[in-house]
Amino acid sequence: MKSTLTFLMSAVAVAVMFTPAMAQQQVTFTKDVAPILQQHCQACHREGTIAPMSLLTYEQTRPWAKSIKAKVIAREMPPWFIDKNVGIRQFNNDISLTDQEIATLVKWADAGAPQGNPADMPPPRQFPDALAWQIGKPDVVISLQKDLVVKAAGPDWWPDITVDPGLTENRYIQAIQIIPTKGYPNIHHIRTSMIKPGDDGIHGGAVDGNVQLDMTQQGVFLDEYAIGKGPDVFKDGSGRYITAGTKINFEFHLHSNGTETPVNVLLGLKFYPKGYTPKYTVTSMTMGSRQVDLRPHEANVRSDGYLSLIKPARLLSFQPHMHTRGKAECIEAIYPNGKIETLSCARFEFNWMNNYVYADDAAPLLPAGTILHTVMWHDNSSENRNNPDPDAQITYGLRTVDEMSSAWLSYYYMSEEQFKAELAERKAKQQTLTSQR
Ligand code: HEC
Repeated sequence: MKSTLTFLMSAVAVAVMFTPAMAQQQVTFTKDVAPILQQHCQACHREGTIAPMSLLTYEQTRPWAKSIKAKVIAREMPPWFIDKNVGIRQFNNDISLTDQEIATLVKWADAGAPQGNPADMPPPRQFPDALAWQIGKPDVVISLQKDLVVKAAGPDWWPDITVDPGLTENRYIQAIQIIPTKGYPNIHHIRTSMIKPGDDGIHGGAVDGNVQLDMTQQGVFLDEYAIGKGPDVFKDGSGRYITAGTKINFEFHLHSNGTETPVNVLLGLKFYPKGYTPKYTVTSMTMGSRQVDLRPHEANVRSDGYLSLIKPARLLSFQPHMHTRGKAECIEAIYPNGKIETLSCARFEFNWMNNYVYADDAAPLLPAGTILHTVMWHDNSSENRNNPDPDAQITYGLRTVDEMSSAWLSYYYMSEEQFKAELAERKAKQQTLTSQR
């Protein structure tokens, strides 16, 4: 694992390769750059969003050419921090650039950011109406009773609000969407969780350490909203369970932008028909370690978490979770036969709570008895630009000033028969990525 970290850190400097064909051709904005911006940047970089500038036209983009070069080479933009050289390579929500696309942007900036022929400009990308439901008409719509008010200036703010939607029956959720109705440019991200009646911990029964999973839990995680992200629609035959009386907790990450702004959202839940039970219940939990002890100025502190699976499972997503001193996290599977496989490694950027959703054909299929192992690294040195105080000794805790060392995982359990069928289907697609057989 030490070598993995060394690799993660060195992967920041991406090798930019030029092909002979590219060396001869001039790279222009209209022909080469605009299509990349449309596909990878404009979901966030357009008017009225939290991103600091729009990248729709040549005039808007030209002044940022150097900064774009720096951010894409460092793989800081777009915000996607998976190490592409280890583990699973296919994700449903991958917004990253290929090495080729990075090379094109770099070449364009180095050539003085030429516009090229206006006739080469692709038609503008169309975006879905930000205020429209894309999941159909929701069965339940939840909003904050009172707007949050973001000050004109100030540090980022993480308010935590719980709402009781008055659910009177247990249902399976088929799709979830969050629509910001006020203060869209101030909302960096929102994480929602489910709080069962009688559960007084704010984020429900998060589990850490080496524990066995409870198979009937509704889970705690509900949905995540981030700038540029669409609704969550569960794959046919799967859904999230929500029980009567469950409250919804909204954890906001808000950002001041010069004007005092009210913020509010709509959370829409679309249910499966009454009485319908999906084949698989998607749930989420955290696993990790509370053994976090960061001495002042230590740049590379490791902690480990373990979790054993009591039934076969399909892992749907991986979301590293640390606080300001988080640096990187890996997850590996220790199979019952003793083989170990790295599933994913990611750099950690506190500002971006990225959730990495595995592609359907690549999501790990894990036999019963598999132990999931997460390895987390923290950086308490002044090299970490998010570190508010490198002189402090920091230990585990829920407050933002403390540290956490964990991962959120979404998964569903299967019977042995279902697992065999999924494995066979995977094999048939020649996409087998797990190595336990
Ligand atoms: C998921 C949303 C998102 C996507 C996708 C995205 N950006 Fe950004 N970008 C942001 C936000 C928000 C910021 C403000 C700084 C921050 O929060 O990290 C930013 C900052 C930047 C900056 C630094 C601006 C400054 O003030 O110095 C550059 C340059 C940039 N982005 C370029 C790009 C490019 C080029 C792409 C596509 C290849 C891209 N971004 C994709 C959201 C995004």
